[in-house]
Amino acid sequence: MAIPTSPKERNLNASAAVAAAVVPAAGRGERLGPGAPKALRELGGVPLLVHAVRALARSRAVGLVVVAAPADGVAEVAALLDSHGLDGKDIKVVAGGATRQESVRLGLAAVPAEFDVVLVHDAARPLVPVDVVDAVAAAVRGGAVAVVPGVPLADTVKRVVPQPGAPEPVLDTPDRACLRAVQTPQGFRHATLSEVHEKALAEEAGGTLPPVTDDAGLVEHYGGQVVVVPGHEEAFKVTRPLDLVLAEAVLARRRASDGF
Ligand code: CTP
Ligand code: MG
Repeated sequence: MAIPTSPKERNLNASAAVAAAVVPAAGRGERLGPGAPKALRELGGVPLLVHAVRALARSRAVGLVVVAAPADGVAEVAALLDSHGLDGKDIKVVAGGATRQESVRLGLAAVPAEFDVVLVHDAARPLVPVDVVDAVAAAVRGGAVAVVPGVPLADTVKRVVPQPGAPEPVLDTPDRACLRAVQTPQGFRHATLSEVHEKALAEEAGGTLPPVTDDAGLVEHYGGQVVVVPGHEEAFKVTRPLDLVLAEAVLARRRASDGF
């Protein structure tokens, strides 16, 4: 993050840093194949997690980053962030959980009440442009309770009756113009995110929570209005080996074009 140079800039910084970011980074990365936990896998010689934390720290809106690390790797992750020069930022590392939802909840518990806005960002999205982070935070500050960055779909999508290993009957084809593939960071009013995670924990204990794969999905489930702002193609999630190849190419292009 740039060091403020003028008093005006300093004020702007102080008033802008109202958001804390929670970074779930405790997954195994099964779909990426054998190796280190996904957040620690390298892209351009730097762990995915370090890229992701840097991308968040670059935003003036973000005053704190909380990383939810694998439970047996908290000290290792803290040392890793230090060794990449991120110890000067306000960064906390906590133990994550068995599911992404649990990791977010544990990270969220470490966010002080003074932060009105909480962004949740996957460690597996290392190349999110800072403009997307800023836009999501700004939309929450502008009054939305839940904001997700999304992009139009290139493929036509079919709803099917899932039958792995067999031809799957198609139910229908949703109008692609009404579909968005959503990314992170997702932004929330702090109170809203805490409330839906508390409710989900209780509902999960009762065994009645339907599968929810993102935080905005929890807000929807409890009747809150989520809005979509433009995402970016470079905010894609590193999930499978080919994604890592693409991420290396994007990073190489950035380094060549602006010394990133
Ligand atoms: N995540 C987490 N805690 C978990 C599971 C996932 O913090 N118990 C995090 C991952 O580290 C990742 C993000 O949630 O940054 C998105 O999840 P995903 O892409 O599914 O990552 P993994 O769960 O690690 O990958 P896979 O599902 O292929 O095992
Ligand atoms: Mg997963």
